[in-house]
Amino acid sequence: MSAGPAISVDRDLVARSIEAFARHGAHGETGVWRTVYSPAWVAAADHYAELGREFGLKVRQDAVGNVWATLPGTEPGPAVVSGSHIDSQRPGGRYDGVLGVLGALIALRTLRERFGQPRRTLEAVALCEEEASRFPGAMFWGSRAICGLIEPDEPERITGYEPETIADAMRAIGLDPAAIPFAKRTDIDVFIELHIEQGPILEHTGHPVGIVDAITGIRHYTVTLEGDSNHAGAFPMDLRRDPMAGAAEIISGVINTAHRMGRPTVTTVGRFAAEPGGPAIVPQRVTFTIDARHRVPEQRQLLYRRHEGLMREVAARRDLEISWDDPIDQEPGPCDPGIVALLQTAARERGLDAPTMPSGAVHDTLVMGRFARTGMIFVRSKDGRSHTPEEFSSTEDCALGIGLLADALYRLAY
Ligand code: HGY
Ligand code: MN
Ligand code: MN
Repeated sequence: MSAGPAISVDRDLVARSIEAFARHGAHGETGVWRTVYSPAWVAAADHYAELGREFGLKVRQDAVGNVWATLPGTEPGPAVVSGSHIDSQRPGGRYDGVLGVLGALIALRTLRERFGQPRRTLEAVALCEEEASRFPGAMFWGSRAICGLIEPDEPERITGYEPETIADAMRAIGLDPAAIPFAKRTDIDVFIELHIEQGPILEHTGHPVGIVDAITGIRHYTVTLEGDSNHAGAFPMDLRRDPMAGAAEIISGVINTAHRMGRPTVTTVGRFAAEPGGPAIVPQRVTFTIDARHRVPEQRQLLYRRHEGLMREVAARRDLEISWDDPIDQEPGPCDPGIVALLQTAARERGLDAPTMPSGAVHDTLVMGRFARTGMIFVRSKDGRSHTPEEFSSTEDCALGIGLLADALYRLAY
């Protein structure tokens, strides 16, 4: 590893690129609605490929839809990769994922212009799907394909919020789900992801940039409670089997459990539906999601035991049928200590005070860490807002994060 210069990147290019990318799936003034394999997503993937070519990189799209832009090295050997995802929440902001996707491309362009061909191959990647915002079971679809972690039956089995499978959505844009195994890579040594923080810690401590040493674990539950649909006026309270009453108790209970366990425990209920959904009808069925996270494996399991215990207890006491599945379940994971140290050194040598911190959001880095040495750089989020069109990070902070990423890639590849 060589020491490196403090690389600065073109701030106008950073601002222009983020602005231009936000056109794809623009939602209101500042939001983005860009789910995987949608027309807005296809436009974003094409845009990424065009930018890569314009920046002098070799571009290709793999079998699952990830877009790769390569700066070949003079030496053979595994690649050093940086990237993030181009899909968004519904709606999300313009920085989540996109900062890392464009940041990798801008870092490679800057390195190529200043230092020419690297010794080791560098790649920027726009991962096709991270948010699970169209298909609840497809979180980390792009990075899982790269790691060979998509089961053969998943494309036809994973359904969306609309009645469609992810295989249907792939075929509709000309991708063959049977070809997903060809997206697997076994030649990635390092993966570094630049991302907005999505929380308020860096802003509170007054730091523009942080370095991530560990990523939280996560489970999503989809819960169904079933009772008896009845007349809201004529049917007495004490005779009802009301799934809404059970859901209210469970939702309040799981949120209180996370509060009582204290930071960094978090539990969120973000989606809810009642059927048939009439004001004068006791519902037959309610469904809702629970997103529950902890970065300590034992505490994570304790949280899930408590949530599941409460769900069973409430359903039994209220004589309701309950069922759930967990379409997402990921262990927490550390970043690679060597890459964390390299990022800390690069920050220090450019005079940047960048605290080391855990991530409460999950990222493709968690998956890539199964097979590659990983690291992450966080950029301060205004008011800690994310997963909302209100999301904002300043051009100055974004450019600083990209500069630090370029420093790290220089140290690894030149
Ligand atoms: O939910 C997450 O942490 C990620 O932003 N998808
Ligand atoms: Mn993200
Ligand atoms: Mn996100």
